[in-house]
Amino acid sequence: MIREPNVLDIPRINELGSLLEENFAKVYSINEMLEDKYSKIYVYEIDDMIVGFIIATDLVETCDILSLIVDPEYRKRKIATNLIDYLISELDENLKLITLEVRANNTAAIHLYDKFGFEVVNVRKKYYANGDDAYLMARESE
Ligand SMILES: CC(C)(COP(=O)(O)OP(=O)(O)OC[C@H]1O[C@@H](n2cnc3c(N)ncnc32)[C@H](O)[C@@H]1OP(=O)(O)O)[C@@H](O)C(=O)NCCC(=O)NCCS
Repeated sequence: MIREPNVLDIPRINELGSLLEENFAKVYSINEMLEDKYSKIYVYEIDDMIVGFIIATDLVETCDILSLIVDPEYRKRKIATNLIDYLISELDENLKLITLEVRANNTAAIHLYDKFGFEVVNVRKKYYANGDDAYLMARESE
């Protein structure tokens, strides 16, 4: 089941987020995002446990996917695919562009975004603290 989170879900979201980014809880203030009309967060729940989430900034015509993560135990079951589909279905019909940044060596995520028609539009050299490059990927609406 996909739903919007509430304050009680914040610890679990931060726990999952920290798998991707050590400082997740500091970088993303989920508490504030829950109150912010430009932030969209959806969680994927199985048997009352959150196993994945997607976070995006929705500026009506442009949407930026900030974070997407699935619990390692639940990967390769189309959970991320369902979360992206759900996000897209909730976006404004005037949406023109979805963007995101991904580590250039994150094959799993890049394959996933490829499937959704995202294309690499820019490379940000040494964008991450460890020197990894970032791909800026974008998908235009039909
Ligand atoms: C990337 C991630 C969100 C994918 O979640 P998922 O629920 O396993 O993805 P799905 O099951 O929906 O997979 C959809 C497609 O993604 C691609 N994919 C997913 N995992 C993959 C892997 N390990 N290797 C290669 N391609 C992969 C495939 O194209 C797959 O389609 P297929 O099953 O028909 O081959 C998950 O691996 C994850 O949480 N990774 C760590 C966090 C992260 O990197 N997030 C993205 C940051 S921008």
